[in-house]
Amino acid sequence: MLPDATGGTNLLKLMVLHGPNLNMLGKREPSVYGNVTLDSINENLRALAEELRVELSITQSNHEGELITLIQEAPDRGVSGVLINPAAYGHTSVALRDALLAVGLPFVEVHLSNIHSREPFRHQTYLAGIASGIVIGFGANSYLLGLRGLVEKLRSGA
Ligand code: DQA
Repeated sequence: MLPDATGGTNLLKLMVLHGPNLNMLGKREPSVYGNVTLDSINENLRALAEELRVELSITQSNHEGELITLIQEAPDRGVSGVLINPAAYGHTSVALRDALLAVGLPFVEVHLSNIHSREPFRHQTYLAGIASGIVIGFGANSYLLGLRGLVEKLRSGA
């Protein structure tokens, strides 16, 4: 247990994963994703994490296997929950779903865009049915809403 500034305890260590092509935010399809960059999303996540008194480790990867390895290692690193934008792998990767099932960590799936108002192949994700919660379509705010939801779920034991 780490004492925090208020004398309380800071127990929660959370992992944020950004999937493929999210490093291109800001330049990528601005009509869909806006002008927000991944750096600014991460900055806002870190500020919210401080307010909520949780610790974040944040990684973006264009490699499915790297994301899977990070998920597999998360419990040994003391991680208690995952906030993930799987990006296109959400629509394609049974392996990512299996990794999340294997570790059994609560996770929240987020997407910047409303995937249900886009092409039919984006309407389904392999993660949605096993997620603790899903936040879709609020742009960069999807991440902040997802982080709040994940922390509240973990703290309430729900
Ligand atoms: C996305 C939606 C996915 O369909 C797409 O492949 C992405 C981004 C989103 O955040 O809106 O890369 O996950």
